[in-house]
Amino acid sequence: MARPTLSVRDLSIAYRARRGQVQAVRGISFDIERGEALALIGESGSGKTTVGLGLMHLLPATARIVDGSATYHRPANGSDATAREIEVLGLKGDALRRFRWGECAMVFQSALNALNPVLRISEHFADTARAHGYLSASGQSNALRERSMDLLSRVRLDPERVWRSFPHELSGGMRQRVLIALALLLEPQLLILDEPTTALDILTQRSIMDVLKELRSQLGFSMLFISHDLALAAELADRVATMYAGRIIEIGDVRTIFQNPYHPYTIGLIKAVPTLAGDKEDLTSVPGSPPDLIDLPTGCKFHPRCPLADARCRSDEMDQTEAAPGHQVACWRWPDARDVLKSFQVK
Ligand SMILES: Nc1ncnc2c1ncn2[C@@H]1O[C@H](COP(=O)(O)OP(=O)(O)O)[C@@H](O)[C@H]1O
Ligand SMILES: [Mg+2]
Repeated sequence: MARPTLSVRDLSIAYRARRGQVQAVRGISFDIERGEALALIGESGSGKTTVGLGLMHLLPATARIVDGSATYHRPANGSDATAREIEVLGLKGDALRRFRWGECAMVFQSALNALNPVLRISEHFADTARAHGYLSASGQSNALRERSMDLLSRVRLDPERVWRSFPHELSGGMRQRVLIALALLLEPQLLILDEPTTALDILTQRSIMDVLKELRSQLGFSMLFISHDLALAAELADRVATMYAGRIIEIGDVRTIFQNPYHPYTIGLIKAVPTLAGDKEDLTSVPGSPPDLIDLPTGCKFHPRCPLADARCRSDEMDQTEAAPGHQVACWRWPDARDVLKSFQVK
């Protein structure tokens, strides 16, 4: 089988805070195959953004990568005869600059702050190209313009108009599309999207999801799609990883995770997704609140909220085990969880 685009192993990241160490990411491992979309889901505060920032070397100074590795692989192709294997976490200087945007780009939730208000959209494209060595020869500016225009129309914007605009002349949804186009400028193999539609109204969200699906099928990049919204994750992802208290507690293909989840937390999350028939009133969430990442509970970090927790859950944290081929779960009670929780009503 082809090598994965990204292999993350035992990644741990902590923040220094006044009260102590925030253990935001605790020993997570996952692969993203070529052209695959992996969704990272979980409640706010589970460590999803920290994973993305860590991979992009964008963590604040108070954060530290405690352990782990991330290996990026890009195979040789027609236009570029050298395969690349990159140890992402050790990158520095020029190599890091080339990796960012050229190999891996990230789009954040807040499109508002990501664009410089005094620069026209055309200048954002030129600056990005220049900063990453794409615009070395002067004759390349036409190529840059052509590629930018193509990307702007792929994200369904009017390229000529947007090209001349300042960020404030565009709506939030349009700015987010610009950022997606900008992220794809240097043909990265991996796109990290962190809650890319969370700040947008429902119609705009819908059209951005359609754009992302279309881009992926046209351009074939791999994707790490970070979201607290399971319905969105289900739409885009091939595989889904559930994160809780800095760990991946369940991972499997999207159908399995939605139709046959084993971890009580994933089961709770999925019950919390409103159905098409249900109205807004039915929107519930998993009872209780996430743990304090500075002073974590003993054993399984979900045990204080889990209706199935027993003595072993309170004393020992379980590693992932293979519940079915390609379906990993970290729960002592997984063999009975589904049956017991069938009648478990989320209040
Ligand atoms: N700069 C920071 N300093 C201290 N703690 C932080 C910092 N950034 C995030 N955290 C903490 O790390 C944990 C994980 O945060 P985050 O990765 O943003 O989660 P998510 O994206 O799943 O909402 C949270 O408990 C959050 O409060
Ligand atoms: Mg986040």
